[in-house]
Amino acid sequence: MNTVKNPFFGLIIHAKNDRSLLSLEPNVLEKEILEHGLVIFRGFLSMNNDEMSSFCRQFGDLLEWDFGHVLELQIRANPENHIFSQGRVELHWDGAFASAVPRFNFFQCIEGSAEAGGGETTFLNTVKFLESLPLDQISEFKKLTIRYETEKKAHYGGVIQTPLVSEHPITKELRMQFIEPFNEDNVEVNPVNTQIVGMEREKSDALLKQIVAFCYNSQFFYDHQWNKGDYLLVDNHANLHGRRRFQGQGLNRTLKRIHIL
Ligand SMILES: [Fe+2]
Repeated sequence: MNTVKNPFFGLIIHAKNDRSLLSLEPNVLEKEILEHGLVIFRGFLSMNNDEMSSFCRQFGDLLEWDFGHVLELQIRANPENHIFSQGRVELHWDGAFASAVPRFNFFQCIEGSAEAGGGETTFLNTVKFLESLPLDQISEFKKLTIRYETEKKAHYGGVIQTPLVSEHPITKELRMQFIEPFNEDNVEVNPVNTQIVGMEREKSDALLKQIVAFCYNSQFFYDHQWNKGDYLLVDNHANLHGRRRFQGQGLNRTLKRIHIL
C-alpha cells in the first residue's frame, strides 16, 4: 500500500493489489483523518451498502435520515433539493440543520465525472484556512455569529444561529462553520436566507461576500474530480464542502454517502 501526500491538503492512500477498505486498521485511519482532514482511497475493491455501513460503523454510529443511512447522490429530473440538481452547491457543513452533526462523511464513487468535467466536490479545510489568516482577521471572525434559514424541502431545513469560528469538538483546534450565501444556482429550489446577527443587511451582505472570496481563494480549497472507485473519508467538523456545476456527460455522476456520528 502506498501513501502519498496530496499537494493541497489531505492524504491519498493507494491500494496495492485487490484489497478491501475493511482490511485497514480503523484506529490508524481515524488518526489520519483528524490530522489531514480528508483521506482519499484509490484502487480498493467496490463495496455494497452493507459493506459500506460495516466500514463506517468501525468509527461510530451512523446518522439515520428519512431514507436510511446510505444516500445516493444523483441528478434528478425535478429536484426537491438543489443537491440533486445540475447547479453548483454552496460551501456548507453537513448536518447544519439536523439533530446531530456527523463527525465524518464517507463517500464511494459509483460513476465518475472526471473526464466529462463538472460535478467536482469542493472542500475547504477550515482549520488550515484559519491558521493561514492573520491574527487580527481571526479576531474579527470570532466576533461573528450567523443566522441561516431554509425551508425543509428534502431531508433538512429550519433556522440555526452559529458562530463563524469555534473549537473543533475533537482536536480542539479552531475551525470555521459557514454556509456560503448568494449561490446563483440555488435561488429557485431552496435558498438559504443568511445574515450576520446584529448587523444590518447591507453591511452583512458585504462582509459575507468577503468571507466567500477568502474561502475560494484559499490554498486549502480543493476541487475533487471523481473517478469511479474513489472513496473519500472527510472530517465534517474541520471541512466545508460544496460542488461545481455539472457539464455534459458529467450528469451521470453517482456517489453514495454515509454520515458517521
Ligand atoms: Fe453536503
